[in-house]
Amino acid sequence: MMKYNFDVNKVPTPCYIADESALIRNLEILRGVSERTGAKILLAQKAFSCYHLYPMIGEYLAGTACSGLFEAKLGYEEMGKENHVFSAAYRESEIDEIISYCGHIIFNSFTQLDRYRDRVLAAGKKIGLRINPEHSTQEGHEIYDPCSPKSRLGITRRNFRDDDLRGVTGLHFHTLCEQNSDDLETTLDAIEEKFGDILHKMEWINFGGGHHITREDYDIPRLERCIRRMQEKYGLEVFLEPGEAIALNAGWLVTEVLDLTENDMPIAILDTSAACHMPDVLEMPYRPPLVGSGEKGEKKYSYRLGSQTCLAGDVIGEYSFDEPLKIGDRLVFGDMAIYSMVKNNTFNGMPLPHILLLKKDGSFETLRSFGYDDFKERL
Ligand SMILES: Cc1ncc(COP(=O)(O)O)c(C=O)c1O
Repeated sequence: MMKYNFDVNKVPTPCYIADESALIRNLEILRGVSERTGAKILLAQKAFSCYHLYPMIGEYLAGTACSGLFEAKLGYEEMGKENHVFSAAYRESEIDEIISYCGHIIFNSFTQLDRYRDRVLAAGKKIGLRINPEHSTQEGHEIYDPCSPKSRLGITRRNFRDDDLRGVTGLHFHTLCEQNSDDLETTLDAIEEKFGDILHKMEWINFGGGHHITREDYDIPRLERCIRRMQEKYGLEVFLEPGEAIALNAGWLVTEVLDLTENDMPIAILDTSAACHMPDVLEMPYRPPLVGSGEKGEKKYSYRLGSQTCLAGDVIGEYSFDEPLKIGDRLVFGDMAIYSMVKNNTFNGMPLPHILLLKKDGSFETLRSFGYDDFKERL
């Protein structure tokens, strides 16, 4: 049963609350994997860029993984440890600055490698190539599957030029999404089958993200066997760059019930929005966990929870409660640290949720407050 230990009436709504104790619990699990195997684990900032916490996260992890210039700069400035970057393509105007912030630059094509290789080497930085093992392990989730047909992410074996690897010391793959280590294992089988000869020529490999290492049913011993397999058979240094696993179940979103209406079923209007504050709810799609609630019909009072915005589909889901909802009630959604504050927006002029930290000692620190200017300044 999901529980929180703070006074829901003491926070402004809507707000995200990063939960320090839950983060530390995840980070300890990840540090354990690193300590037992020697693999280096990086924070994929795209999932959780709450840089106020980078100094603490950096005590447990080896550094940051970035998707481009801005994340590269943020990781460099705020964590200042290993910094690896992958982008499907780099702009001429940004590559030198990216190189200055990152130790590992990963390219998505031989054209990009040819264009920038000498600049990376001249700076004494490492070059990697992202490969596409063409081994799909997810069904029905094409939007999150870099191995789906016609994918632009990663170089397939057909397009790989083994005679053009000057300066390339590592391979990178990212093919998983919220998956367990059995899928990693079959992915490594595919990589060995297609790129085994290349692995022998490399110094490092990056397993990307999508490893749900801090989820209860995750098979960590199997992950560690996968890591050792690459270390022992090919002498490779292993990196992982999970995002979700770092802040999984380590954040809350608190919202207030603004109104109660009815249309075939009771409806509650909240001061949060799926479209603005938790876009993955619509994109994945998924039904976020809500403390104290059940499935529709499971408890006595069911409601459709929706937002203030104009979007008809801006609905978080249908939930049930033991008691009827009242205007002014506070509701607490769980698992709201990842892919939430990095993806939010101000559609309809919706305010951005404040960002609070729930500290280990139970007190709150306001990390960021937002208002009208944050909406206006982006336009
Ligand atoms: C290249 C790369 N690395 C790491 C990640 C982080 O994945 P996750 O948050 O699912 O662990 C992603 C997510 O899209 C990615 O594209």
